[in-house]
Amino acid sequence: MTDEQERAQPSGVWATAVGVARVRALETERENALFRDPLARAFATAGGLWPSPPPRPDDGDEAARRRRLAVSFSIVIRTKFLDDLLRRACASGVRQVVLLGAGMDSRAFRMDWPEGTRLFEVDTAAPLDFKASVLRQEQAVARCERITVAVDLREDWPGALAAAGHDPASPTVWIAEGLLIYLPEDAVESLLARISALSATGSCLGLTLGSRGVIERFGADAVPGSAASMWVSEMPDDPVGWLAGHGWEASSHTLFECAAAYGRPSGTAPQHDERPGGLISAVRR
Ligand SMILES: C[S@@+](CC[C@H](N)C(=O)[O-])C[C@H]1O[C@@H](n2cnc3c(N)ncnc32)[C@H](O)[C@@H]1O
Repeated sequence: MTDEQERAQPSGVWATAVGVARVRALETERENALFRDPLARAFATAGGLWPSPPPRPDDGDEAARRRRLAVSFSIVIRTKFLDDLLRRACASGVRQVVLLGAGMDSRAFRMDWPEGTRLFEVDTAAPLDFKASVLRQEQAVARCERITVAVDLREDWPGALAAAGHDPASPTVWIAEGLLIYLPEDAVESLLARISALSATGSCLGLTLGSRGVIERFGADAVPGSAASMWVSEMPDDPVGWLAGHGWEASSHTLFECAAAYGRPSGTAPQHDERPGGLISAVRR
């Protein structure tokens, strides 16, 4: 059987990773793209979302269309924000990267990495298998040492990461992009405690958080099975203080601020109350 015939189709929470790839594929086609992700289209195609997604029950609903635009906008801005954070971390000498809930993140293939960089992609087995089959089909070659770690982040992922060769004595840059919103609050708390315990001085952290009220605004009448219908947690009232409590010096940015800094015309930004995410960067002192 070919990869294409064997490939399991996206389902449950990991289907959201293919939706994210579709947004990145669309951005990649823009003349003034904030990043280019040449593999994104192959992931979206393999997941049945390209060239167009299957019809949805709320197609034609203007409010739903606006919500989808807002989510797409947030994905584009957060991708650029975290690309920049990773470049800064590498420039400061960090050579270990851990992508938590990596999904179809293709940074190992599309970014330049300093010699000696080891990049760990942590997600459950199903999306990692799907991804591997698309990567084989595309004959993609990673630009750093890439190690996949198949584990559920509610289980003993530090053990799995250690077994895969992560060295907690050296600084790590951690990325949790589009992940925490899918984990219940106690799982988010435990994830941060575990990340912190594995972070040497000089480690960096990039997080995206669902902004306050986003679940009520987006999730309540979301189509069952859609990404928003699976959102369960929002950012704490004081994300910087929350991270300080775990030993991180953090700064928090809104999508709107970052979008303005990136020169993305504000006309394409959704209305203020529709912005669904907070962007956090942090350093371990
Ligand atoms: C919205 S996608 C984001 C993927 C990727 N970070 C990106 O931005 O392209 C969420 C990802 O989190 C993963 N995820 C959610 N809950 C998880 C868990 N408990 N353990 C491991 N991965 C999980 C999903 O499988 C999915 O790949």
